[in-house]
Amino acid sequence: MSEIVIETNNLTRDFNKKLRAVDNISFQVNSGQIFGFLGTNGSGKTTTIHLLLGILKPTRGTARVLGLDTRSHGAKIRSQTGVLLEHSGLYENMTATDNLEFYGKAHRLSPKKRRDRQKELLVNLGLWERRHDKVGKWSKGMKQKLAIARTLLHQPALIFLDEPTSGLDPMAATALWETLTELVAREGVTIFLNTHNLPEAEKWCSTVAIVSKGKLLGVGRPEELKSGKSSQQVEIIGKGFGPETKQLIIHSLSGVGAIETGPDRILVELAPQAEAAPLVTLLVNHGYAIETVNKTQESLEDLFLNLVKE
Ligand SMILES: Nc1ncnc2c1ncn2[C@@H]1O[C@H](COP(=O)(O)OP(=O)(O)O)[C@@H](O)[C@H]1O
Ligand SMILES: [Mg+2]
Repeated sequence: MSEIVIETNNLTRDFNKKLRAVDNISFQVNSGQIFGFLGTNGSGKTTTIHLLLGILKPTRGTARVLGLDTRSHGAKIRSQTGVLLEHSGLYENMTATDNLEFYGKAHRLSPKKRRDRQKELLVNLGLWERRHDKVGKWSKGMKQKLAIARTLLHQPALIFLDEPTSGLDPMAATALWETLTELVAREGVTIFLNTHNLPEAEKWCSTVAIVSKGKLLGVGRPEELKSGKSSQQVEIIGKGFGPETKQLIIHSLSGVGAIETGPDRILVELAPQAEAAPLVTLLVNHGYAIETVNKTQESLEDLFLNLVKE
């Protein structure tokens, strides 16, 4: 059974009167998920992690992480989770094992536990053979794997990764994710992932949340983000519709799918990117009285593509 590991309610953070970095966000993350927080630069992703770790206080709203209130239990949350922010936190002039040794002591793991856990993680990440190298000599991909090993040392139930593949080439990024997903499956850890990369979110996340300018625009499964799938429906409420209305639409507009008509309601399926305006104009020009026009909610992909266009 999955339990809720993160829950936010109207979480909001202002940096000054003009800048609301996180705007009234509510969502929840269940255990065992790779939860992707997807948005372009400046959309409030890093600020959200800071709020969830209790490093920043919310201006309004609340968040609970592992059942703990972030406003009062930041230190406890940070000790029970792992986090990889923009800086890896690795010491480049130290070896891989010395780096993990350092952080293992910081987590007060016993010498035996440190040894066992280092070996387990380094083997699973394919870094064991290189454990005595100074980290400064490693590729960026290897360093990121080690940085993630660092977040997992104390076997946290939840880790936060802030753009872990930024700066990696596609092959290194894929290698990182492949080992990471194996590790996640084996250890049952939940990942809160910040990313600006749509394909990455689609491929590796079990749930994706789209954020823009601090606002949460939608949450869904990655299948819903895949292209070509989503058509949209437009519902028009008015008067005097009939079979002839359906014929009019079919003969006058392109990109129209299924149409349902009733005397005071029409439902029209449109191509994914099509506008509703030509349909409305057509009906008005033919003398129909229209009361309201409703569009079904945009798919996550539409949301994200519109954002990128902006
Ligand atoms: N400590 C801070 N003080 C003032 N403004 C900040 C601070 N941290 C972030 N911001 C601003 O908040 C907004 C969101 O930033 P951030 O959370 O870093 O976004 P992202 O991680 O999605 O790129 C940006 O406009 C950024 O400039
Ligand atoms: Mg960021």
